[in-house]
Amino acid sequence: MQEQDTYYLNEICTQNALYTQQTGRKKKCLTHTFGCQMNERDSEILFGFLAQMGYEKTDIEAEADLVLFNTCCIREKAESKVLSHLGELKKLKQKNPDMIIGVCGCMMQQKGMADTIRSSAPYVDVIFGTHNLHHFPEYMYNVYQGKGRQIEILDKEEGVQEGLPSYREYPFKALVNIVYGCNNFCTYCIVPYVRGRERSRKQADIVQEVKQLVADGVVEITLLGQNVNSYGLDLQDGTNFAGLLQELDQIEGLRRIRYMTSHPKDLTEELVKTIAESSKVVDHFHLPVQSGSSRVLELMNRRYTKEHYLQLIDLIRKYMPNAAITTDIIVGFPGETEEDFLETVDLVRKVKFDNAFTFVYSKRAGTPAARMEDPISLDEKKERLQRLNDALSDISRDINDKLQDTVVEVLVEGPSKTNEEMLTGRTTSNKTVIFAGDPSLIGQIVPVTITEAQTWVLKGTLAE
Ligand code: 5AD
Ligand code: SF4
Repeated sequence: MQEQDTYYLNEICTQNALYTQQTGRKKKCLTHTFGCQMNERDSEILFGFLAQMGYEKTDIEAEADLVLFNTCCIREKAESKVLSHLGELKKLKQKNPDMIIGVCGCMMQQKGMADTIRSSAPYVDVIFGTHNLHHFPEYMYNVYQGKGRQIEILDKEEGVQEGLPSYREYPFKALVNIVYGCNNFCTYCIVPYVRGRERSRKQADIVQEVKQLVADGVVEITLLGQNVNSYGLDLQDGTNFAGLLQELDQIEGLRRIRYMTSHPKDLTEELVKTIAESSKVVDHFHLPVQSGSSRVLELMNRRYTKEHYLQLIDLIRKYMPNAAITTDIIVGFPGETEEDFLETVDLVRKVKFDNAFTFVYSKRAGTPAARMEDPISLDEKKERLQRLNDALSDISRDINDKLQDTVVEVLVEGPSKTNEEMLTGRTTSNKTVIFAGDPSLIGQIVPVTITEAQTWVLKGTLAE
């Protein structure tokens, strides 16, 4: 963080303290975070800044003095959610003109989008993108100084920012960025356009951050990158993902290392071996396949074939027979035929995924796929999605049934969302387990015997 930013934060904090003195209440803020874990992590940083400005968190929009939208544009649905929610805020701002509204994140990096918000939502005070998140203190300071609306979108990334404050959601698990941006340009995907080119953090900075997290009580970390497998290659000093995992595996007190996401084209035998030999890297591979048709994979610019993907699965099973494997799949990519789709169903049956995130293709302006012929109707695509999901849930159910009566290690995350009386947590393979237990177990890793396997959750009782 720059010295200037500390000045901005302190100035705002002083003004907020004065406000508290005069009114007897602290200013409150709320962030709506859309999309992936990268955005969740960015929101933790934004909250870090806000905490230093003297803001308190709230979940109630009507009492918020500042509402921030951290947006996503991966699919059209994510975008329309933001726009309709933003529309609702207009009424709140009419009631409370002092409310500050900010919009940031991936959607703002899209060509023309910031201008659209600028003109269609004049009640938005601050607009910025993914490349200038760290300038947030300056924009806020300017708003506090009465300098009017702050709108800035940078076309290009500004390297890697270290030392930003952060307000982490959980005391026992943490998201850790390792590489920003993406160089892969899958033809359907907007991410490379809104998150810029790959930039790796230095290994020493990551290791230091993780050591600090562990000292603060964190037992599980999730390393984040659009393609963690290419971590370090841009540094050109021999750093790579396998080496980083080996280093992190040595950290005493750390119990679990997760990572997201792994591109199949860069998954090597060396890496699978490293993961198998490590004591903390989890037995879970999230390996997005996107399609089971080599023809479609080529159109998607994924740079592997169905056969290569299946070989990778064999490799994983050779070294880690019990590893859970999950994936992402897009159905209805432009020109996908029924035969192509059936290849995807065939692959799903061959691999036997533990779980999958499945999506209907969504056209993203500016990507190569947006210019491809797309004769299949949305209804037909939705029908394919349903058939795929049916196949996937049968498989997940079979896999989970095998866990019946076994004992699994669960990191307890909190009360269950569906039943406050119960606790929920995750296995090393990332399966959700619900069981009865004392809330004092939250944050601990405990053994649980599975008593009832369902398709998407496991129910159990504390072992011992
Ligand atoms: N349409 C549908 N799904 C998409 N994804 C990325 N771009 C699109 C798109 N245009 C999916 C991919 C990716 C996941 C994060 O989102 O499956 O792995
Ligand atoms: Fe998008 Fe492909 Fe990059 Fe993933 S690897 S973020 S799908 S372009």
